[in-house]
Amino acid sequence: MSNAKDFARLPGFRDFPPEELGLRSHLFEAWRRVAARYGFQEYDAPPLEPLSLYVEKSGEEIVGQLYNFTDKGGREVSLRPEMTPSLARVLGDRSRSMPKPIRWFSIPQLFRYERQQRGRLREHFQWNVDLVGAAGPEADAEVLAVALDGLRELGLDAHHIRARVSDRRLLAGILGALGVPESSLLAAYGVVDKIEREPRERILQRLTDEVELPREVAEAVAGLFDAPELDAVEARFGQDPAVAPHLASLRSFLEILGDLGFGEYVDFDLTIVRGLAYYTGVVFEIFDRAGEFRAVAGGGRYDRLLELVGGESLPAVGFGMGDVVLSDLLRERGLAPDTSHSVDHFIVTIGDEQASLARRIAASLRGRGRSVVYGVRGQSVRKQFSAASNEGAREVLVLGPDEVSRGVAVVRSMDSGAEREVRISELLGDAVVGA
Ligand code: HAM
Repeated sequence: MSNAKDFARLPGFRDFPPEELGLRSHLFEAWRRVAARYGFQEYDAPPLEPLSLYVEKSGEEIVGQLYNFTDKGGREVSLRPEMTPSLARVLGDRSRSMPKPIRWFSIPQLFRYERQQRGRLREHFQWNVDLVGAAGPEADAEVLAVALDGLRELGLDAHHIRARVSDRRLLAGILGALGVPESSLLAAYGVVDKIEREPRERILQRLTDEVELPREVAEAVAGLFDAPELDAVEARFGQDPAVAPHLASLRSFLEILGDLGFGEYVDFDLTIVRGLAYYTGVVFEIFDRAGEFRAVAGGGRYDRLLELVGGESLPAVGFGMGDVVLSDLLRERGLAPDTSHSVDHFIVTIGDEQASLARRIAASLRGRGRSVVYGVRGQSVRKQFSAASNEGAREVLVLGPDEVSRGVAVVRSMDSGAEREVRISELLGDAVVGA
């Protein structure tokens, strides 16, 4: 005998009854509107991919969280934990014949076997927006502007959210100046990425043990993040030829975001490096300003991934924005829309004789785009009115024997209670009811 517990939802997965799906659809609609406003086209790819697509390319953190298995044909496969490698693969097959830059977006469901915590589940939907075939701060700024506009469209402005931005080339130059060898950069990024969440002693220990830096270099690296603002960085490293060009490009990125109307949303922050292995330039994460939630979105420039996946060598920049933190944030700030169910008309019949007429009126109104529900056979009038209110009906059409014999129906507004008579021929014909 099985019991209900055997069929429980897996931890970290969600059901979406209509009242939950309403908010998700609200996000998707806003994302699609904003992507279209910037000229991006929607694409998709399979949810199950070869395991090799993620190993090495995504980096250790994600690979440790893969939902992977051997399929019945002996293939090593994985549910997709992120969209970017699939995008690189799809483009790899076709980008040569496409005009550049390529502006594509997608809203995939992704799967990561994460330790569950607030804002992190084992599945989530992620708005991915990527601009491929354009290098430079204009493309970087355009993509971050799409992300910020997507949030603004949902009611979140510069008081609610901020983007923290940096550039891996800049950080590489600075770390080089402090004595970190190039071969240790990726490992050093992994530690810097956690600098906010781990105590100083642990950071120093990881820099010496994992990154194998001498103690004084480790201390210089950890100390760097005591004053990570742009002016402080410029004052200290601005003359270094490995740093100067990246500072200039970052300043221009910030200036362009100002032109696009997002200056107030963006802060430079050297601690932002991102956990994924493939980023090569600008990196950014978007957070709620109060700092209560995990990142809402993250992205950056990845100029070598397409080539790594066997495609054309093309510069690219993009971001992913998850639905989990964003939904929590909207609810918490009172910005989740009212997604309660409603229909235009509910048809109440007094007797079974009007059932056929009710169906014909429903068909006619539905044919004109109205939403119509009618009562279950044999229900009392009182029950039908209560069903109309449960359906959120705007108007109730009452078909009673006396009125029908006179060729009319009574239309009652559920808001005001006001009643009027409407000709049944109109309900069955072209005229619009209750417009
Ligand atoms: P990511 O930082 O791993 O980037 O994920 C982006 C966003 O997806 C996060 O900021 C978060 O909102 C959401 N997210 C990630 N993991 C989870 C989870 N377990 N539960 C709920 N939400 C989650 C990427 O995936 C990159 N591929 C983005 C990108 C696109 N870069 C360039 N193009």
